Amino acid sequence: MKIMTPQHGCAWITGASSGIGAALAAELAARGWTVAISARRESDLQNVAAQHDNIHSFVCDVTDRDAMAQTVSDIEAALGPIALGIMNAGIYLPTALPKFDPTVFDRTFEVNLTGTVNGFAALVPLMVARGAGHISLISSVAGYGGLVTSAAYGGSKAALFNMGESLAMDLKPSGVHVSMVAPGFVKTPATDVNKFPMPFIIEADDAARRIADGLAKNKTHISFPRRFAFLLRALNMLPRSTYVKIAGRFMKR
Ligand SMILES: NC(=O)c1ccc[n+]([C@@H]2O[C@H](COP(=O)([O-])OP(=O)(O)OC[C@H]3O[C@@H](n4cnc5c(N)ncnc54)[C@H](OP(=O)(O)O)[C@@H]3O)[C@@H](O)[C@H]2O)c1
Repeated sequence: MKIMTPQHGCAWITGASSGIGAALAAELAARGWTVAISARRESDLQNVAAQHDNIHSFVCDVTDRDAMAQTVSDIEAALGPIALGIMNAGIYLPTALPKFDPTVFDRTFEVNLTGTVNGFAALVPLMVARGAGHISLISSVAGYGGLVTSAAYGGSKAALFNMGESLAMDLKPSGVHVSMVAPGFVKTPATDVNKFPMPFIIEADDAARRIADGLAKNKTHISFPRRFAFLLRALNMLPRSTYVKIAGRFMKR
């Protein structure tokens, strides 16, 4: 599978008005990419774009399928073909049981899952026609298995792994590479509100470097920090009933 470089086209990152997406835009721009960033908050996007000549902002809500298709065509008209698409937009809404609020699930799935599908819908036909491209999904180690208060978020991130793996297989013959990123805790506006301890937390710049390194190697699965990802993967190799007992204690509400 061909490794996408800045010579093949530009990079597009959704959800890049803050956090990991904003840091990744700066990291890729520093590595020579022309970067298109999108999100809903225009002024935040412009602040990120102002950091580098090679970053260009396009306001877009990932849940709007037509707007996503229009954004892709606007980006390609302005910056040339998208060689690397990073579906990063995501929200975390805790499930505070025993009150069961189905709208938490609706909202989470709409952004994290449907938003990613909308990105694929816009990019796949173009990349398949060109016989090359790389689409990366930002999932989470929370998708490896169930975690306390994470039914909606973890469910969406687990679905991204399954969807991403299937699409990696389906799209391989067309020359389009699909990768999945599984960060542990990263310090961003999304985690700044967390009241619980966040083991092995890293800065967004550090996460961006690790993601950019993995993308440049065409890795299919990029996970970090290594010790935390390994610990969760090891826990997930236990019999499921044992996993549920241990993981419930390991991450207390
Ligand atoms: N931080 C962590 O510890 C961690 C760990 C694992 C995975 N992740 C994943 O990493 C990704 C980035 O998260 P983050 O921590 O950097 O959080 P963040 O700073 O809150 O960034 C989330 C981004 O998603 C965008 N977004 C949300 N809803 C959107 C919508 N409907 N349409 C378009 N953009 C939307 C936000 O922009 P607007 O509000 O301007 O639209 C923002 O740019 C997410 O997928 C998250 O699940 C984060």
